[in-house]
Amino acid sequence: MPRLYDSRKRILVTGGAGFLGSHLIDRLLELGHEVLCTDNLFTGTKRNIDHLHNHSRFEFMRHDITFPLFVEVDEIYNLACPASPIHYQHDPVQTTKTSVHGAINMLGLAKRLRCRIFQASTSEVYGDPSVHPQTESYWGNVNPIGPRSCYDEGKRCAETLFFDYHRQHGLEVKVARIFNTYGPRMHPRDGRVVSNFIVQALKGEPITIYGDGSQTRSFCYVDDLVEGFVRLMDSPADFTGPVNLGNPTEFTIRELAEMVVKLVKSRSKLEFRPLPADDPKQRRPDITLAKTRLDWSPTVTLDKGLPTTIEYFKGLA
Ligand SMILES: NC(=O)c1ccc[n+]([C@@H]2O[C@H](COP(=O)([O-])OP(=O)(O)OC[C@H]3O[C@@H](n4cnc5c(N)ncnc54)[C@H](O)[C@@H]3O)[C@@H](O)[C@H]2O)c1
Repeated sequence: MPRLYDSRKRILVTGGAGFLGSHLIDRLLELGHEVLCTDNLFTGTKRNIDHLHNHSRFEFMRHDITFPLFVEVDEIYNLACPASPIHYQHDPVQTTKTSVHGAINMLGLAKRLRCRIFQASTSEVYGDPSVHPQTESYWGNVNPIGPRSCYDEGKRCAETLFFDYHRQHGLEVKVARIFNTYGPRMHPRDGRVVSNFIVQALKGEPITIYGDGSQTRSFCYVDDLVEGFVRLMDSPADFTGPVNLGNPTEFTIRELAEMVVKLVKSRSKLEFRPLPADDPKQRRPDITLAKTRLDWSPTVTLDKGLPTTIEYFKGLA
């Protein structure tokens, strides 16, 4: 249901031409808000927002958040950042700058406007966790100097900045720690496990599994995640997070591969390769906090979410 005009907000979504950002924008427009989408189109694409081209409450601005931005809005969702290892390791210095300078610029804007600001943080702040599943009180096990550090430490530093702006300037911050999410509009060449397996299965190529495939992951469907974003943004001012958002149902990488092959009806075979450095062995969110404070939990199971994702990838072929 669209909201009434008096509750309509002007909302800035950074990284809005990306996978998660474009779905968030669809939802915010559905709710009746005005959306300003900024993106430097590094990993995002105009195709993800093409359908909004003539929407009267939507505007796109090409902008890199490592530079200051001066606009008038009522809320900010900060999603801009390359999210997959292939992309964030392409230019690691720029990745850290996007997380850290980007956070400083967006927090500065929120401070000037006295508006709420949401940060898309990540389960990667837990690194290779020594506790399982991860609760928000776990401080993580992160390598500060490895090839994934530009992302993991960048996101950790961004969280630090969000909480310092909250404590020092009284800013209303909302920090979500996002776990593996999948769905239509994922980048087809981002090297992430779900998109990799689907693309390989559709082409009938071998499905590459790193390690023996016994490492586990949890997969959240994008619609569930976006619902969590909106609930967190609308939560009472005293609830800052960090809050885990993800699907706690665990699958081994091998199980995922087998499910994709079956759904695609592919002739692809599984192929095993060495595990890359710092690859976490287990990752599963404890979502008790999200359940209690946001009344949120995922509703889309993998067997329901994968077919729509596969359809999307078929359309790209
Ligand atoms: N998808 C997931 O499973 C997942 C998991 C954890 C965290 N996240 C976080 O969620 C956010 C969105 O991720 P996504 O999966 O949609 O990735 P994505 O790559 O599809 O989207 C990120 C967007 O940010 C843009 N961008 C990158 N650097 C920028 C910069 N300096 N200035 C402006 N725009 C910039 C990209 O062009 C892209 O459109 C990211 O912050 C990511 O770290 C995602």
